[in-house]
Amino acid sequence: MAMATPTSPHPLDPLDAGEILAAVAAVRATGRLDETALFAMVTLVEPDRGQLSGYAEGRPVPRRARLVVLPRPDASLVEATVTLPDGEVVEWVERDGVRSALLFDDSYRSILALKADPRWQAAMHERGITDLDKVQIDPWPTGNFENPDEEGRRVTRCISYYREDPTDNGYARPIEGVLATVDGARGVVLDVADFGVVPLPPGRGTYRPGDNGPDRADLRPLEIVQPDGVSFTLDGHRLSWQRWSMRLSMHPLEGLVLHTVAYDDHGTERPILHRASISEMVVPYGDPGPTHGWKNAFDVGEWGLGRMANSLTLGCDCLGEITYLDATFSSEHGKTYVVENAICIHEEDYGILWKHLDMNTGHAEVRRSRRLVVSFIATVGNYEYGFYWYFYLDGSLQLEVKLTGIMSTQAVTGGQETPWGPMVAPGLAAPFHQHLFCARLDMTVDGPVNEVHEVSFESVPEGPDNPMGNAMRQTVIRLESELAARRDVDPGSSRHWRFVNPASRNGLGRPVAFKLLAGTTPTLLAQPTSSVGRRAGFARHNLWVTPDTPGQVRAAGDYPNQHAGGDGLPAWTSADRPLVDTGIVAWHTFGVTHSPRPEDWPVMPVEYCGFHLVPAGFFDSNPALDVPPPPGHCH
Ligand code: CO
Repeated sequence: MAMATPTSPHPLDPLDAGEILAAVAAVRATGRLDETALFAMVTLVEPDRGQLSGYAEGRPVPRRARLVVLPRPDASLVEATVTLPDGEVVEWVERDGVRSALLFDDSYRSILALKADPRWQAAMHERGITDLDKVQIDPWPTGNFENPDEEGRRVTRCISYYREDPTDNGYARPIEGVLATVDGARGVVLDVADFGVVPLPPGRGTYRPGDNGPDRADLRPLEIVQPDGVSFTLDGHRLSWQRWSMRLSMHPLEGLVLHTVAYDDHGTERPILHRASISEMVVPYGDPGPTHGWKNAFDVGEWGLGRMANSLTLGCDCLGEITYLDATFSSEHGKTYVVENAICIHEEDYGILWKHLDMNTGHAEVRRSRRLVVSFIATVGNYEYGFYWYFYLDGSLQLEVKLTGIMSTQAVTGGQETPWGPMVAPGLAAPFHQHLFCARLDMTVDGPVNEVHEVSFESVPEGPDNPMGNAMRQTVIRLESELAARRDVDPGSSRHWRFVNPASRNGLGRPVAFKLLAGTTPTLLAQPTSSVGRRAGFARHNLWVTPDTPGQVRAAGDYPNQHAGGDGLPAWTSADRPLVDTGIVAWHTFGVTHSPRPEDWPVMPVEYCGFHLVPAGFFDSNPALDVPPPPGHCH
């Protein structure tokens, strides 16, 4: 069945509600699904680079939807592809032993089943908890520990928290020692383990106004006013600002995706990125005990950053002259829903852009820096992640992740500290953990064929060429193939990577490039042979490079939930494909190893991580010389 859309969408526009409903109707019309089938995901099949360049030359691009359907309450799924708007099912692949991201439906069923389970109820009663309505249950993805009971099932692992009052911070009072395993698809409790009673911590950990004494009263208003309006233009999903242009979409798993990021260089549209997103992230915990040792979460492939996106509020999440974009998703029951104000777009003053005071003449020139901000915030259980892409007047861009929310906690018997996590409040510890993000950067610097150069510095021995011993030498190595391109940062040598177009030269005759400027870059601390070590192989290196290959999008593979591991980057790059004379995709792992502080409790002030992409010979000189001086009053 077909449902016409009123205007012809751009090939990269996300599916609208009509297209999602048409795709669902088409797979239902095959008669191969019954009414209980659940829709884990319905997304656009994005055109590849070739189709998109054809579109630019006037050739149409067929629109297609990809559906991940769960036909039964087990570990099987169907990948279907439907053409739009005519609704022809052109692909139908049944897979067994793989799981989609954790369903909201499975989570609810897990909670209901557990609350009705006599073993779990007995564990609560043993801890003096009689009002089970005061217990918060958090279902988690389980990982994969080769437990035969979990084969063929969609499983959650559930931990419990006590809220004396609904306004309590749930994570202040973990009900320690009780760990339940639930078949969430069928609503069957598989196991309730009790590793021993630990008293509830005394504090409620609340953080609402007035909960911790009077609010401070000496902050004067700070308003951001743009009396003549903003300097950017949003036309559908196409955003342009200053010389920058890009298209935006919201993917249910990856969250905000940037497409076709380009820079208008005096009338020439110069591509930089074909596509950029967070392809995966993992949060492994470092306490080896039975209640916590299994804990890790892949917040893209097991939860979905887009599905967890907040509806943002003007004046709270975003300040100033704000433009929002909504996101439309399929529900698990094949309907649609809209996350209003999911993507926030605005401009920020960012201090000085450049300055010089000429000591001879006393003359100063200074320019203000300003950035375009495109952001969204995802809440994944206890944690919040804000993803902020920044575009600057000097041709650079940046991804900053803001980590906030509430830490995952552990009740500790009075006075007995654990070696695996600092105390953050009386009776309450927070285990060491990492947040490791993998940004996928599909590079098209001045065109589709790019290569990656590793740049390092080294000291030079004293000698006839270096009589004063001061010489510093820069070395540049081209990363020729995938195995050679599994790389890590090395601060002592200022190691960094350049994305180079060997066919495009700047005014100095050199190949144009952008460089990746890394920020905080831990790698995975869990053993490579551990469960999470096998499943999160992408997090063992800061850089991976692959040839541009359709279908290779998520760093831990398409279905990390309960996966045994090895999929994604480690598998793809083991082929050691060449990285020269081809389109390339760079994958950058960065993040935070979190040593919890008392100051992170009861709600964590934002911690930052991320990276910059900076032009390195892309322009012939400072591209921001034409930014005018601030009007009026600065001389
Ligand atoms: Co943390």
